[in-house]
Amino acid sequence: MSYNLLKGKKGIIFGALDEKSIAWKTAIRCHEEGAEILLTNAPVAMRMGEINKLAAIINAPIIPCDVSSNDDVLNLIVKAKEHFGGGVDFILHSIGMSLNVRKGKHYTEIDYGFNAKTLDISATSLHRVLATAMKHDAINQWGSVVALTYIAAQRVFPDYNEMADAKSLLESISRSFGYHYGVKKQVRINTVSQSPTRTTAGSGVKGFDGFISYAEKMSPLGNASADDCANYVVTLFSNMTKFVTMQNLFHDGGFSFTGVTADVIEQMGK
Ligand SMILES: NC(=O)c1ccc[n+]([C@@H]2O[C@H](COP(=O)([O-])OP(=O)(O)OC[C@H]3O[C@@H](n4cnc5c(N)ncnc54)[C@H](O)[C@@H]3O)[C@@H](O)[C@H]2O)c1
Repeated sequence: MSYNLLKGKKGIIFGALDEKSIAWKTAIRCHEEGAEILLTNAPVAMRMGEINKLAAIINAPIIPCDVSSNDDVLNLIVKAKEHFGGGVDFILHSIGMSLNVRKGKHYTEIDYGFNAKTLDISATSLHRVLATAMKHDAINQWGSVVALTYIAAQRVFPDYNEMADAKSLLESISRSFGYHYGVKKQVRINTVSQSPTRTTAGSGVKGFDGFISYAEKMSPLGNASADDCANYVVTLFSNMTKFVTMQNLFHDGGFSFTGVTADVIEQMGK
C-alpha cells in the first residue's frame, strides 16, 4: 500500500546488491511512495548485473561508486545534482564489508591493513559522502540521511568481529555530522539498528543461523524483516519525522531492551 509519503522527493540509495538487500527493498518502497531514485553501488557489485533489474523496475539511473574513493564519491554527488537538477532529499547508506571476516581472521588476530579498509568502507564512507555533499550543497534543507547498523556497536557478539568497531564508528559519525549538518541546513542524520537479516552481507557472519534464531527467540515481536526495515526507513525519509536526528534507532522487534524471554529460559532448562 502506498501513502505518498515521499511524493516529489529525490534520493540516492547505496548498496542494492540483489533482491535480498535491505537497500533493494528500500528503493522499491521509496519508489512506491512517490520518490525519484538514483542507485549506486561498487563497480564490482555492478558486474554481477542484478542492480540493472532493480533500475528497470523503478526507472532509476545507476552511477557506480566505490565509497572508499574520494573521486568516485565526488563524481556521484556531481552527477546526482546534474541528474536531479539540484540537491537530493534523502540518502540511504546501506554498505558493509569486512575483509578480516571474509578472510576468516579471528578478532584477536586481525590484519590491520584489512581493518583500515573495513573501517573506511563500512564507516568513514558515511563521512566522505556527507562531507562531499555538504561541500557541493547536494542535500536539500530538511533532507534525511539514514545509515544501517547493528547492535554489536553496543554489545559484544563475538563473531561479528571488527564490524562491531566499524558500526560504533558509523554511529558516532552519524551523531557528529548530524550536529554540523543540522546547524547548517536542518539535514538530519540517523542510524537504524536492524535485526539480523538473511542477506549477502548478513550471511557472511560466522554461525549466522544460530545467531538469527537466537535473536528471534530474544525479541518479543520476533526479528524485523528487510521489508519492515524498508518501511521504517521510508518514514525517516518522510516529513513525518522532521525533528528526529542524531539517533541510533533500534528496529529489532524489542531485542535491544530484552534481558531474557520465556522461550530462552525454557531452552536453557533443557
Ligand atoms: N543483514 C543483516 O543481518 C544486517 C543487520 C544489521 C545491519 N545490517 C547492515 O545493513 C547494510 C546493508 O547490508 P545488507 O544486509 O542489505 O547486505 P548486502 O550484502 O545486500 O549489502 C551490502 C552492500 O555493501 C556494498 N558495498 C560493499 N563494499 C562497497 C564499496 N567499497 N563501495 C560501495 N558499496 C559497497 C555491497 O556491494 C552491497 O550492495 C550494511 O550496513 C549491514 O551491515 C545488516
